[in-house]
Amino acid sequence: MTELQAVSWTGDALRLIDQTLLPHRLEHLEIREVDALVDAIVRLAVRGAPALGVAGAYGVALAMLQAEREGWDRARLEAALERIRTARPTAVNLAGGVDRVRPLVDAGLAAVLEEAGRVLEEDVAANRAIGVHGAQWICARVPRRPLRILTHCNTGALATAGWGTALGVVRELHARGLVEVVYADETRPLLQGSRLTAWELAHEGIPHYVLADGAAAGTILRGLVDVAIIGADRIAANGDTANKIGSVGVALACADAGVPFVVAAPWSTVDLATATGADIPIESRAEEEVLCWQGVRVAPEGSRGLNPAFDVTPARLIDALVTERGVLEPAHGRTPARPGGREAL
Ligand code: MRU
Repeated sequence: MTELQAVSWTGDALRLIDQTLLPHRLEHLEIREVDALVDAIVRLAVRGAPALGVAGAYGVALAMLQAEREGWDRARLEAALERIRTARPTAVNLAGGVDRVRPLVDAGLAAVLEEAGRVLEEDVAANRAIGVHGAQWICARVPRRPLRILTHCNTGALATAGWGTALGVVRELHARGLVEVVYADETRPLLQGSRLTAWELAHEGIPHYVLADGAAAGTILRGLVDVAIIGADRIAANGDTANKIGSVGVALACADAGVPFVVAAPWSTVDLATATGADIPIESRAEEEVLCWQGVRVAPEGSRGLNPAFDVTPARLIDALVTERGVLEPAHGRTPARPGGREAL
């Protein structure tokens, strides 16, 4: 399969895979206006922290072109850039992508596009390095072969500039012939696991089960999982990590079972300006996403919906934090509750 490109630049537009249509339709959006980009980000047509970073970087070019077409003054352009960088609050890569390119606005479009291209290329290279570091760490720490791996949300090519972070590690392990099966949490309420991760795994020919998020802890405690690996939207200076809602439950189950819990993310997701997980802004999404199913209300009319898009896993529950720079072990020294986990029931 040719490598998926979730985000690319056509020459005068931002080209995005419309991830809301997957797995049934692989279609692209061509975006030329800031409103359309903000809308695509908010409804998750483009999503995943590193992909948002690339979209943010090219978003600066897109806004400059629109400003020229429509005769915006500088204040209007700056306001547009601010709208892009704050369209979703949790993944630090989105603001990071805009902020990296924004200082080049005065240097002109060519300079902005060149820097945005670097953001994209660096992410692909980071993902490849993460794959190798993560696979090496897992091979050294987890004796069972082949491996049974649990993952949450989507961290593959779709969520990045290419290859993937946590799913990139899975792909690297698969290339080494070391994967028995992947358990892909479905990832309620927007189903990034069952719609996107399963689709990527199927295309890669990697055996997998989709399981309800509620099945993850039991599957880990039954001894069916050798390692869990997830991505990150923002890693605070102390190692606390925000990722898709449901991640911390996986980490707690892993800690109890003595199963390694691995976070894989590019260094661009590390936010040293945010001290701890408590300081990470957590996106709260529309109630309807949890109260309705395919547009049809399933909860009683009187019920309210609580819909945090992310949760924070404390550093003490993270056995390995894999970036392109290498592997940190935030939980080092913690005594696993049940080293080695239990045998399959
Ligand atoms: O709401 P989403 O789909 O943007 O959430 C994505 C995640 O939580 C991913 O795990 C994270 O961004 C890492 S992607 C490599």
